Amino acid sequence: MAQGFDIKGKRVLVTGASSGIGREIATHCARAGASVVITGRNEDRLAETLSSLEGSGHSLFAGDLIEASARDALIASLPELDGVVHSAGVNVLRPFKFLDQKNLEAVTRVNLDAPMLLTSALLKKKKILSGGSILFIASISGLIGAAGYTAYAASKGALVAGTRVMALELAPQRIRVNCISPGIVRTPLLDSMAESADFSEKEKLHPLGFGSVEDVAHAVHYLLSPAAQWVTGSNLIIDGGYTAH
Ligand SMILES: NC(=O)c1ccc[n+]([C@@H]2O[C@H](COP(=O)([O-])OP(=O)(O)OC[C@H]3O[C@@H](n4cnc5c(N)ncnc54)[C@H](OP(=O)(O)O)[C@@H]3O)[C@@H](O)[C@H]2O)c1
Repeated sequence: MAQGFDIKGKRVLVTGASSGIGREIATHCARAGASVVITGRNEDRLAETLSSLEGSGHSLFAGDLIEASARDALIASLPELDGVVHSAGVNVLRPFKFLDQKNLEAVTRVNLDAPMLLTSALLKKKKILSGGSILFIASISGLIGAAGYTAYAASKGALVAGTRVMALELAPQRIRVNCISPGIVRTPLLDSMAESADFSEKEKLHPLGFGSVEDVAHAVHYLLSPAAQWVTGSNLIIDGGYTAH
């Protein structure tokens, strides 16, 4: 019998938790009684996140997830997990004509290779429990085009496609795999960019305005919880109505 939206006592790995959406996901899960392992590259900002978390049993691991050695060290340090939330990601804007292997890899290694290879290695080491939930933070850029976003859009679209396959392969173990695709979310980074660039046209494309990091964290909470026990292979779009156009 599922216990609704309760995630108390669950052990959840959150990547990209030194900043923005990942930091809020870790904060939210900890407030809801989960114990979290947070990762990112910047140890100072990770330590800041860690010290702000409610509850107990949390830990941090600093490392660059595009490196196999860092992924292996992270996995070796982990307990068995009920949830994995891949929020680490980057974007490099570039007109398609000027895209080269270096910029393409700079995006795809972080947004696609790292979360897929980390997940696969976690499974090989049996670190994800039956009943567990794996979440990828994709983007509506994986579903609709925007100039300059080729590498980012391709990486996020590939996550959505890969999620369906993972969901099928892992269903026999009762491990669920889903994506969340946010529209533009207000983060400190966006606010700082807004000082020099006009985002008002972009904001108008979101009928409910830009989202907040809390909006994404609430979706994560649902998909980690027993309330979503029948949800797998899905892509939850949370974009204030952007893709409803
Ligand atoms: N913000 C939005 O509007 C928006 C919309 C849709 C989807 N998303 C997606 O949501 C996720 C979080 O975005 P955000 O806005 O919160 O970004 P952010 O504030 O820039 O945070 C990105 C996080 O990813 C980590 N990271 C980057 N490269 C890494 C690497 N090689 N190894 C390990 N960690 C790495 C960063 O860690 P360090 O800083 O410690 O290196 C940081 O914690 C991303 O996947 C993004 O594509 C964001």
